[in-house]
Amino acid sequence: MAFVEWSDDFKTGNRDIDHEHWGLFALVNDLSDKIEMGAADSSIAVTMEALVGYVEAHFEREEGIMREAGYPDLPTHIEAHRRLEGSVQFFKSYYEDTPEIFPYQEFLDFLKGWLTGHIMKEDMAYVPFLNDDGTDTK
Ligand SMILES: [Fe+2]
Repeated sequence: MAFVEWSDDFKTGNRDIDHEHWGLFALVNDLSDKIEMGAADSSIAVTMEALVGYVEAHFEREEGIMREAGYPDLPTHIEAHRRLEGSVQFFKSYYEDTPEIFPYQEFLDFLKGWLTGHIMKEDMAYVPFLNDDGTDTK
């Protein structure tokens, strides 16, 4: 069973955002699988790097979409993103400095909480403001 299970409940209806959210679930599950299987450090490092890069790129794109849609709570949402980014950066430095004692489970639990919590609450709040531009995925 996947560590974080994707379902249609997570869909915002925006094709690009949903594609990226799905990608994040896939990367988190990939990391979880590798840790569980005791994969080589180099293989885990590849996923860690991909995940951190993906998070940053995703926030930037999501903020652009919200800006374009004229989402009134954009500043609050951006703040939430910066906080999440701060945590990701903390874990990233921790991993780079001392990979041998990196708390993978804590990192995975943080990612799971964010993916299920932030998407369902903060991300869903902008859905009514998204433009109906033919990219609906629901
Ligand atoms: Fe978000």
